[in-house]
Amino acid sequence: MNLKEQIYTRKSCRKYCDDEIDMDLIHEFMKSVKPLNEKIEYAYEILPSDEVNVRTRWSAPYYLALYSEKKENYLENIGFVFQQLCLYLQSIGIGNCWVGMASPKKKDLNFVITISFGKSDDLTREPSGFKRKDLSKICDVEDERLIPARLAPSAINSQPWYFKHSSDGFDVYRAKQNILKRQVLKKWNPIDMGICLAHMYVANEDSFEFKIKTDFENIKGHTYIGSIKI
Ligand SMILES: Cc1cc2nc3c(=O)[nH]c(=O)nc-3n(C[C@H](O)[C@H](O)[C@H](O)COP(=O)(O)O)c2cc1C
Repeated sequence: MNLKEQIYTRKSCRKYCDDEIDMDLIHEFMKSVKPLNEKIEYAYEILPSDEVNVRTRWSAPYYLALYSEKKENYLENIGFVFQQLCLYLQSIGIGNCWVGMASPKKKDLNFVITISFGKSDDLTREPSGFKRKDLSKICDVEDERLIPARLAPSAINSQPWYFKHSSDGFDVYRAKQNILKRQVLKKWNPIDMGICLAHMYVANEDSFEFKIKTDFENIKGHTYIGSIKI
């Protein structure tokens, strides 16, 4: 399996077929994922669509319901952990999509978000098919090492990430949204940040390090998330 390759061809899948899936593949893969913050407990559950309230016009045969302890940067951690799974699923022909507009019928206070998944033959696209901000708009000085981050999926394609070069890598920021978008995106943009960091990790598996500095620079209209070495 090559997760890195998936970054350049993946897309959110919204057309599925009902073929059965060997769910053990998911449980096995989840043993190998790297968390962003080791101190946060999280869990997932696989649900058939009839156990999920789906508020999108399309639906999938299965949903992952994701749960987490609510500690500092738990939303980034959920994005980081489960985007690794999304890339893995993609690599074995299982389409998937982060879905903010769905939730398990059974209520649970630790519920965070869902991911739809299922077999699909509509999994990939050409590199030219990505609708993303220019690289120059997401960093202080254009740097091709940030292409994996640029291609990450985000809620309503908001792409809230911004990178500033530091002495040994990048300081990572989340753009603050205007008042209209803020209500919708306040829970999802931190998840987007974790997803984007997962792409940086998968693309630089051996060297990736994440830490939160105390002496970071403030950038107007942005919130500091942490710093990476790649
Ligand atoms: C946190 C999050 C929540 C999302 N929620 C939804 C959703 O509710 N419905 C949907 O159709 N797509 C949803 N998406 C998918 C995004 O719309 C999609 O990632 C973005 O438009 C970029 O397209 P791509 O993933 O095909 O590259 C979500 C993505 C993220 C990361």
